[in-house]
Amino acid sequence: DSAIDLGTELLDWYDRHARIMPWRVSPADRARGVRPDPYAVWLSEVMLQQTTVAAVREYFLKFTRIWPKVTDLAAAEDADVMAAWAGLGYYARARNLLKCARVVAYEHAGRFPDTYDALLKLPGIGPYTAAAVSAIAFDRPSVVVDGNVERVMARLHAVETPLPDAKPELTALAADLTPGTRPGDYAQAVMDLGATICTPRSPACGICPWSGPCRARALGLQPELPRKRPK
Ligand code: ADE
Repeated sequence: DSAIDLGTELLDWYDRHARIMPWRVSPADRARGVRPDPYAVWLSEVMLQQTTVAAVREYFLKFTRIWPKVTDLAAAEDADVMAAWAGLGYYARARNLLKCARVVAYEHAGRFPDTYDALLKLPGIGPYTAAAVSAIAFDRPSVVVDGNVERVMARLHAVETPLPDAKPELTALAADLTPGTRPGDYAQAVMDLGATICTPRSPACGICPWSGPCRARALGLQPELPRKRPK
């Protein structure tokens, strides 16, 4: 399998099995070329840092009900946003969220910038979030690497170097696989694969679209990868 084929295979899988999330575009709309709302993508990605998809769902719906646009959030009282965030934890995220909303609203005319570099300059947006928003919202071929993606890459290529040392190698492997078409869907597909099939324990290799080319599976190493350097 070439890298291109792997990417295409995963996109086919994603078209059939993408998890439904309130900030995602439905498969039917996706087929029609509808793009997700950058505000929704950004809000969900900030919430998803250190919080599960299941827990984020209701908070995301609450926030977008109260503040449907980034300009609404920018105009909110700090205390109201902190109160709505209560329960999500890591309150610095909420303060940065509000700071970022205000910069987008008042310095970018209410529109999120559409490149990785410009997104990275916004308050509270680090390399992961900048890559995720540029890929998912703007379909740019940014390399989105979270824990799921690290695990999938370590297994697919049987990378035995322990984390965190393996990170640059895993990022390069993820970059090589990123297809030129639909990079945003591809980024979410790898994360979904890691979250639903290539799970830390007992991965469902029998139904994995990448089981054929998976080096860890061939070597029986899935349960051991990715390795972690002892602290
Ligand atoms: N985890 C964080 N962001 C995600 C996304 N957009 N899709 C799937 N899992 C995620």
